[in-house]
Amino acid sequence: MHSQRRSDTPMAAYQVNPDRSTKPVGIKKICCIGAGYVGGPTSAVIASKNPDIQVTVVDYNRERIEAWQTDDLPIYEPGLLEVVKFARDGNLTKRTPNLFFSTDVDRCIAEAELILLSVNTPTKSLGRGAGHASELSYLESAVRKIGEVAESNKIIVEKSTVPCRAADTLRDVLVATAKPGLHFEILSNPEFLAEGTAIRNLLNPDRILIGSLKTPRGLEAAQALAAVYGAWVDPDRIITINLYSSELAKLAANALLAQRISSVNALSAMCESVGADIDEVSYAIGLDKRIGSRMLKASVGFGGSCFRKDILSLAYIAESLHLFEVADYWRSIVDINEYQKDRFTRRIVRCLYNSLSGKTLAVFGFAYKKDTGDTRETAAITVIDNVLTEGANVRIYDPLVKETQIRHELKNTTARLDCAEKQLTVCESAYEACTGADAVIILTEWDEFSNQGEPVRRDSGHGRKTEERAGRKVDWARVAALMRRPMFVFDGRNIVDAGALEGLGFRVECIGKA
Ligand code: UDX
Ligand code: UDX
Repeated sequence: MHSQRRSDTPMAAYQVNPDRSTKPVGIKKICCIGAGYVGGPTSAVIASKNPDIQVTVVDYNRERIEAWQTDDLPIYEPGLLEVVKFARDGNLTKRTPNLFFSTDVDRCIAEAELILLSVNTPTKSLGRGAGHASELSYLESAVRKIGEVAESNKIIVEKSTVPCRAADTLRDVLVATAKPGLHFEILSNPEFLAEGTAIRNLLNPDRILIGSLKTPRGLEAAQALAAVYGAWVDPDRIITINLYSSELAKLAANALLAQRISSVNALSAMCESVGADIDEVSYAIGLDKRIGSRMLKASVGFGGSCFRKDILSLAYIAESLHLFEVADYWRSIVDINEYQKDRFTRRIVRCLYNSLSGKTLAVFGFAYKKDTGDTRETAAITVIDNVLTEGANVRIYDPLVKETQIRHELKNTTARLDCAEKQLTVCESAYEACTGADAVIILTEWDEFSNQGEPVRRDSGHGRKTEERAGRKVDWARVAALMRRPMFVFDGRNIVDAGALEGLGFRVECIGKA
C-alpha cells in the first residue's frame, strides 16, 4: 500500500535542487523573443545575476529594440533602468556586458541553447473563440522561426501565458518545421511579476515555477533552467511540476487574484447601501491569515493586459471541455468588473444631478495602476467612454502616459467620434486638468494624487512629463481654487482622506463608502 513512488506525489514529484556552486549546465546563451513588459525586465534580471550567460532580447519591432539600447527605455518600471545599465553597459561598471538587444532574430535563435518565448498572447479578435480564447499566432510564428533556423538542440521556455497544452501545439510545429534529428524540449516557466513592482518581484520571487515533461530530457532541461534562477533564488523557492500543471497554474493564479478583487468590489456595492466601509471590511477579513491582506483593495475595476484575457481564456478552455458551469463561474469575475466600472459612472452621473452635458470632469490617472505607463485594459477607457457618451467634457492628466497613447486607447470608443474628440483634452498637469472642472475623478492610485502619506519619491527616467512635477503631491487647496462650485471628487481608488477634502469644500464619493 505504501509503494507509491515519490515521483507520484505532486510536490515532491521532482525536486530540483540547483547547486549554487556549479554553473548552469550547458547554458551559455539565452535568447528571449519579445522585448515587452515581461521579456525585457526578466532578461535584464537573469543577465545581471548570471554574468557568464549571454542574454539577448530580440523583437521584430526595431524602434522598441533601439529604445532598449538607450537610457530612455520603452517601458517605465521602477528600478529597471539600473538593472539594464548594470548588465548592458559593462564599460560603466567594469563588468563585461552580457545583456544585448537585437532585431537579428535568426542569428540569436541559432546561437542560443535556451529560448524564452515572451511574445504577447492577446485575446483572439477573429474567428472561433474571438473575444475569449488566447491568440497563439505570435507564439506559433516564433516557434516556426525557431524550427527554420535551428542548427542545434534547444530548450524552449513558455514565458508568455498560454492555454493548457499549448506546449503540445508548439512541439507539433517544431517537429514539422525543424531539421531532422534536432531535439526541442519545451518547458513552462510562467512569469508572476506585476507591473510597477516587476524588478522587486523578479529579484525576490515568491516561487519560480518550472513545468516539464517527466522524461529524462524534460527533467534535464528543467534542471538547466533551475540553475539559471539558482544564481539568485533560494532552491526551495524553485519548484518543478508537470508541464501542463504549470501552464494551468499561471492562468489559475491570475484568475484567483482577479477573483479577490471582484469579490471585494461586489462587497463594495453592498457597503454603499448598508453604510459599511469597504476599506474596513477588507482590513478585517485580511487579518485572517488564511485570507491574507493583499489584492483586497476595492477599486473602479481591475485592468492590465493579463487578468481579463487570462480569465476569458480559462473560461473558454472550460467551455471547450463542456464544463459550462465552470466557465460561467470564471466569467462572472469579468462580469463583476464590468459592472463595477459602470456602477462608478452611474454614481458620477447621479451625483452631478443626472446630467453631464456641458459639465467638465478632470480625470486624474489613465494607467491601469500606479508606477506604470501601461494602459492596456485600464478601467479609465470604460469610464471615460461612458462619461463622454453622457456629454461631459473630459480633461485627463496622467503623470506618465502620453497623449498619443491615451488617444490611441480611446480610438475604438465614443472618443473616435468627431464630437467626442472635441470633448477630450489631455493635460500636462493636474491643475490644468481641473481648471473650471465640476468634478475630479481619480482613476489611477498615483501617490501624488493622494492627500495623505509621505511625499512621493520616484526615480527619474522614461517619459516623466516634467522633472519639476515628478514626485510632487497635488495641492488640493490649489485644485479647489481652480474648480467650479459645487466641487466633487469621485475617488475610484480610495486614496484620499475624504474628511480633509471635505474641509476644503469638496463633496467626496469613494468606492464602497456610503
Ligand atoms: C506578456 C506575455 O507574453 C503575455 O502572454 C502575458 O499574458 C502578459 O505579459 P507583454 O510582455 O506584456 O506580454 O507583452 P508586450 O509588452 O506586448 O511584449 C511583447 C513583445 O513581443 C512586443 O515587443 C512585440 O513586438 C514582440 N513580438 C510579438 C515579436 O517580437 N514577435 C511576434 O511575433 C509578436
Ligand atoms: C497581474 C498579476 O498580479 C501578476 O502576478 C501577473 O504576472 C500579471 O498580472 P499586473 O496586472 O501587472 O499583474 O498588476 P496587479 O497588481 O495584479 O493589478 C492588476 C489590476 O488590479 C490593476 O488594475 C490594479 O489596480 C487592480 N487591483 C489590484 C485592484 O483593484 N485591487 C487590488 O487589491 C489589487
